[in-house]
Amino acid sequence: MATIVGGIGVSHVPALGLAMAKNMQADPYWEPFFKGLAPARAWIDSVRPDAVVIFYNDHGLNFFLDKMPTFAVGAAPAYLNADEGWGLPVSAPFPGDPALSWRIINHLIANEFDLTTCQEMLVDHAFALPLKMLWPDGVTIPIVPVAINTVQHPLPSIHRCFNLGRTIGEAIAADPSDRRVLVIGSGGLSHQLDGERAGFINKAFDTAFLEELVTQPERLSRYSVLDVVEQAGTQGVELLMWVAMRAALGGPVRQVYQNYHIPISNTAACLLALEPSR
Ligand code: DHB
Ligand code: FE
Repeated sequence: MATIVGGIGVSHVPALGLAMAKNMQADPYWEPFFKGLAPARAWIDSVRPDAVVIFYNDHGLNFFLDKMPTFAVGAAPAYLNADEGWGLPVSAPFPGDPALSWRIINHLIANEFDLTTCQEMLVDHAFALPLKMLWPDGVTIPIVPVAINTVQHPLPSIHRCFNLGRTIGEAIAADPSDRRVLVIGSGGLSHQLDGERAGFINKAFDTAFLEELVTQPERLSRYSVLDVVEQAGTQGVELLMWVAMRAALGGPVRQVYQNYHIPISNTAACLLALEPSR
């Protein structure tokens, strides 16, 4: 049977990609974030994943306001990145895992999630950057992308994203292969890029959120999406990805590693690594 070997939550600020492209990881501004990657990479090597499921939010590259699925799962043999205007180098195509994708899709539909299934899907910085950070020489293991709408309100609730993650965790556990799956949640933590509160960051909320995410994630459902906007900023709603990642891990988890740093660009940047306690 397939197993989930662990979960990673990580920010996807485009400026991090520019810093990598310019080899500036050791500069004083960037170093506090990038120094957190080495332990995460070493841990990933030790748990030997051979597939990735990544929860991320498309920012307008593949889905736009004309058509915005709440949840979309990729089922393509490969995923192409494209220029979004951030100045980032376009990544090489990412390998897909259609068999695992369809297993997840079938299980989600059987459990009353009404999905968009994508046999072609462009993937943006929220998908490409975490993979680039964790596999700097290029990721060769196959990936299942799960996109959650954070662009066009109404957004799905924390409760719904928790159930999405949990149901995907069940689908993986029921997979007859011996895949070792790493689950990634891409985004956050608190940040607001526009409007009167542009630059808003809330360390107290992030700290409390991380603590509950690890120990009692079901309790996070008491926050509405608008509570999250108020507490974590308009783009802080990306923490929905972290909730789905955590829920996929199921029961109790052990925190392997955490690196929280304020700010990178306009964002409270964080990397969190979790392992299911067995
Ligand atoms: C920034 C953060 C994001 O999550 C994003 O998608 C784009 C930009 C930022 O802080 O600059
Ligand atoms: Fe973002």
